[in-house]
Amino acid sequence: MTQDFSDGHLTHVTHPLVQHKLTLMRRKDTSTAGFRQLLREISQLLAYEITRGLPMTTERIDTPLQPMDAPVLDGKKLVLVSILRAGNGLLDGILELVPSARVGFVGLYRDEETLKPVQYYFKVPQALEDRMVIAVDPMLATGNSSVAAIDLLKQAGATNIRFLCLLAAPEGIARMKEAHPDVQIVTAAVDERLNEQGYIVPGLGDAGDRMFGTK
Ligand code: URA
Repeated sequence: MTQDFSDGHLTHVTHPLVQHKLTLMRRKDTSTAGFRQLLREISQLLAYEITRGLPMTTERIDTPLQPMDAPVLDGKKLVLVSILRAGNGLLDGILELVPSARVGFVGLYRDEETLKPVQYYFKVPQALEDRMVIAVDPMLATGNSSVAAIDLLKQAGATNIRFLCLLAAPEGIARMKEAHPDVQIVTAAVDERLNEQGYIVPGLGDAGDRMFGTK
């Protein structure tokens, strides 16, 4: 049985397909190609969940039989923001579902002395204040880089932000809730804890290395 950790701040997607695919991803002998494909598939299932509540309107259309007022998305295009580099593994799948979404990138590295995240890249679409912004990063571990990325998005004007990840550690969830209580997190799993190196356990290892084959 999968325990459901959902509350007002966090949505834990316990759908059987998500859970099965995540187990395949966690296996250490899953290939780079397999990992990437599974991540793409899960990203779409998580995107389905996180985009619930997108504003809707109706449009007058003609079916072959008669006119009707049919539902369509309303408002400005949503924005996906990849937190580099692992966030990129979630982008393509979501863009297949929401092809007109705008895309931004946030790059942060950890200063070895202060241990604080430092920005090295930031490029986001215009008019963030009028759009739903979905920040994506497969791993919510310490939460330091995710919180810093969301700080930057808020400074750039975003007011309606959600955070999509594959795995979350309790420490990262708590950090995000404290820093950004308004940001809804959607995740496929809440794991036990962080280890001394800051990896999520049981986890799946380094998501970037596994998707890009860099180790
Ligand atoms: N980033 C990863 O890629 N894996 C972890 O377990 C934690 C952070």
